[in-house]
Amino acid sequence: MDTTLAFFVDGQEIPFQPGQTVLQASLAAGLNIPHLCFNPELEPIGSCRLCLIEVAGRRLSACTLLAEPGMVVQADNPALRKLRAALVAMMLGQGKHTCIRCERTGDCRLQDAAIALNVHMEDSLPSLVLPPNDDSHPDVSLNRDRCILCGICVEASQKLDGKNIFGFVEKSGNMMLTIESASGLLKDSSISAEDHAVRLCPVGALIRKHNPMPSEFASFDFVGEFNLPY
Ligand code: SF4
Ligand code: FES
Repeated sequence: MDTTLAFFVDGQEIPFQPGQTVLQASLAAGLNIPHLCFNPELEPIGSCRLCLIEVAGRRLSACTLLAEPGMVVQADNPALRKLRAALVAMMLGQGKHTCIRCERTGDCRLQDAAIALNVHMEDSLPSLVLPPNDDSHPDVSLNRDRCILCGICVEASQKLDGKNIFGFVEKSGNMMLTIESASGLLKDSSISAEDHAVRLCPVGALIRKHNPMPSEFASFDFVGEFNLPY
């Protein structure tokens, strides 16, 4: 008797192990549901909402929803694509994401999502007043103007690095990434360029200062800025 547990995503049968989420099982089966704040090295955070799917008429996050036998999931339809494009456009519009000038261009999850969803943005400054960047550390920079507030560095610092360097605070109705140090600056924190928190940042917000772009991206041919039609 076949006891394989399975559910369905857009008609495709996805096997799963008890305890796996819809996103984990789908990725393991080779089906990519768009996602940003999920990283397989961390517990799901569920902050970006890019992985929204539809189950029985309800919109839920694939990264936090446990798979159940026979579950029928819609992960790709025009409404979900429009919603994801709007989310990505919002993230792009709330920071300075001029990719051609970013150290992480070609290695950025937000850039990947924008390209996949055909979201474009003019090379223009965002309308929001952006929080200050932190260039105080000799080896690591925090570019808050690229931070998408995904929470990955908060989790990675605690769970993988055994530190507690990052947090969030709300200022004037806007969330902002904070540094847990006496001065509030990276230079007085215990961060290292080797920290998982730096490595796992999905955009160019936390970057190593002395880390040349990986060789596979050295010839990356990215000629356009984002042109956002919103
Ligand atoms: S610094 Fe990077 S990992 Fe941390 S919240 Fe911002 S985008 Fe996410
Ligand atoms: S990947 Fe699921 S909410 Fe971000």
